[in-house]
Amino acid sequence: MVQLTLPKNSRMTKGKTWPKPEGANNLKKFSIYRWNPDDGENPRVDTYFVDLDSCGPMILDALIKIKNEIDPTLTFRRSCREGICGSCAMNIDGINTLACIYGMDEVKGDVRIYPLPHMPVVKDLIPDLTHFYAQHASIMPWLETKTNRPAKEWKQSIEDRKKLDGLYECVMCASCSTSCPSYWWNGDRYLGPAALLHAYRWIIDSRDEATGERLDDLEDPFKLYRCHTIMNCAKTCPKGLNPAEAIANIKKMMVERRA
Ligand code: SF4
Ligand code: FES
Repeated sequence: MVQLTLPKNSRMTKGKTWPKPEGANNLKKFSIYRWNPDDGENPRVDTYFVDLDSCGPMILDALIKIKNEIDPTLTFRRSCREGICGSCAMNIDGINTLACIYGMDEVKGDVRIYPLPHMPVVKDLIPDLTHFYAQHASIMPWLETKTNRPAKEWKQSIEDRKKLDGLYECVMCASCSTSCPSYWWNGDRYLGPAALLHAYRWIIDSRDEATGERLDDLEDPFKLYRCHTIMNCAKTCPKGLNPAEAIANIKKMMVERRA
C-alpha cells in the first residue's frame, strides 16, 4: 500500500522563536529548518531575526551571523564564500541555490531556508550527498587515454577547448539534481543532471579516448533516459549552466552512432 502521509517522526513541529536583537531597526525574519538526529525530536522550523544594518549582503552572511551571535547549534556547510566550492547549496525561498552568492535583496519579505529537497538530511541544512558523489564517480570524471603518454602534455586546440565552456564551471553543488522530479523518484538509478553534465564534459573532450565506453555505459533505460526535459535543472543552476542541454546532446550522440 502506498503511504500518502509522512511518518510520525518526519512531521514538522513548531520551532523556537529566538529573541529579536536589541536596538535594531532593520530586521529581517528567517525561518530555518532544524533537525538533529541525536535528540530524538521531529524536525522543526526555528525563527530568527537578523539586523541587516550589521550584516553582510548575502544569505550566507545572515546564516553565519545567526550561528555566531544567536544560535551556535545551527548547522550548515560552507567554505569558499564565493560560489566556487559548491558546499553552501540549500533551498532558499523555494529555490535551490548557493547561499553565498544569493543576495538578501533577492528575497522579498521573510526568508525561508530548507535543506536541498528529496535528500536524506544529516543535520539541519546539511544533506547527505554520498549517493550523489558516487554517481559522479561512476561516470569516470577524468581523462581516459589509451595511446602513449605524450612527452609533455595532452594538447587541445582552442576550438576544442571552447567546447568545454558551460560544462567545466560546474561546482557539483547538487542544486540541479535535487530540483529534478525524475531524480526525486528515480535517483537510485537515474544519474541526474549534474552527473550527466559531467559525463558529457568528458565525452566531448577531444583528448579523451573512451568515448565509446562512456556512451555504452549510459545506454540504459534509467541512467540517461529518465531525463524528460523538465528543465528545472537549467532554471535553478546558480552557475547559469544548462545540464538539460548536455543531456540532450548525449541523447543525440546515441542516435547518431546507431545510424
Ligand atoms: S550544473 Fe549547476 S546546479 Fe548542477 S551541480 Fe553543477 S553548478 Fe550545481
Ligand atoms: S561557500 Fe563555496 S559555494 Fe558557497
